Amino acid sequence: MEHPATEHACVFGLGWGDEGKGKIVDLLCPAFDYVVRFNGGANAGHTVVVDGQRFALHLLPTGVLHEGVVSVIGPGVVVDPVKLLAEIDALAARGIDVRPRLRISERAHLVLAYHQLEDQLSEKAASDTARIGTTARGIGPCYADKMKRAPAIRFSDLLHDPGLTARVREIVTARCNALRGLYGSDGGLQAEDVLETVETARTRLADCITDTTALLHDGLAARRRILFEGANGVLLDVDHGTYPFVTSSSTGPHGIGSGAGVPPVRVPRLVGAIKAYATRVGAGPFVSELNDETGDRIRVCGHEFGTTTGRPRRCGWFDAVACRYSVRVSGATDVALLHLDTLGGFPEVGICTAYRCDGVTLTTPPADAARLLRAEPVIEFLPGWPAELRAVRRFEDLPPPAREYVRRIETLIEAPISIIGVGPDRAQTLVRGPLAEII
Ligand code: IMP
Repeated sequence: MEHPATEHACVFGLGWGDEGKGKIVDLLCPAFDYVVRFNGGANAGHTVVVDGQRFALHLLPTGVLHEGVVSVIGPGVVVDPVKLLAEIDALAARGIDVRPRLRISERAHLVLAYHQLEDQLSEKAASDTARIGTTARGIGPCYADKMKRAPAIRFSDLLHDPGLTARVREIVTARCNALRGLYGSDGGLQAEDVLETVETARTRLADCITDTTALLHDGLAARRRILFEGANGVLLDVDHGTYPFVTSSSTGPHGIGSGAGVPPVRVPRLVGAIKAYATRVGAGPFVSELNDETGDRIRVCGHEFGTTTGRPRRCGWFDAVACRYSVRVSGATDVALLHLDTLGGFPEVGICTAYRCDGVTLTTPPADAARLLRAEPVIEFLPGWPAELRAVRRFEDLPPPAREYVRRIETLIEAPISIIGVGPDRAQTLVRGPLAEII
């Protein structure tokens, strides 16, 4: 492996999203020329602070706040232009014009009103046990169109398709019929509204639309450094996650090839982010979940409420079974363990080291949600540590039980923990090993 300061990297989630990836991307950004989103859409959420004001970014790559960085939305991202323009406008109101440094792939699909409508209606129609608890951002329906090769609008069409208006009308008519047939309602969907969205996207985003695959390959040839920013998390991956309670994209570094057009082999530094405890939003199995006061305390201390939907997150002990699996699937070379401070003050802290299911002990997650839902956690308790970690700046200065906790997790997940978060600020980050030279 090359020195981390010269190699391309990917930051991604090892859990069910919300691991704090944005903070790590933000820390690494100054060492990179491009920051690239390759999966997901406005279902992701990351809060940034500008001039003391908080902004929730969903679609813009975290790099947009760094002037020297080109932010790229790759072919694998599904882009809601209304949400994207709202984020651009919110930053412009603070005097930050991100459009000159934003590039959107011609190959990326647009998420339009009919996708969101279908997301909402299908969730409403699903039984309590089948409901996924999506973010209702139209992610699944848009990816489904792509996989079905249904008529769809991509950013290249905004620039090059002379028949776009007629095509949008045809798509909307077909969708209204399909929605009425499936759900008994078309939600009042109007072709004129969709056309207005498409036209606004064309006029306001035209300068950002380009062949990002060529752009990145030119960057690789010129030895520019590229940072890939995964959205969601490996446990929500459509192939490797807790299906069907997953999102619809490839959320780990394996998604870089399909989602950005860059062979993953070109990206050696793979930084997987995970919190020192587990959280999940939406439905689906969560073996180490704490439905008690301890879970409530983690939620309150860790401010565990969704950036995208505001929903309270489900909380539980660190799940080493699930995390070791994500490390294996993703090939994480480094792990960023965040929110260690949130666990401060507990007399003891738990780690889920195995699952008990149908009388068998499992150390790797079963594939089916039904078995996962039946599984009981095997919890190993370690001594806790005093409440305050936020002033600590070096691993060696952490209280011994906190160090022991980190080392035990490293052993269980079989990957080095190179970054430890002890608070929300940039400075509240401890870095061990080679990454210390670029953070
Ligand atoms: P969708 O991606 O909106 O289709 O939602 C599918 C599932 O993934 C739901 O349980 C969502 O709550 C969850 N999800 C999607 N993106 C994120 C994320 O960035 N953080 C946390 N959960 C997410």
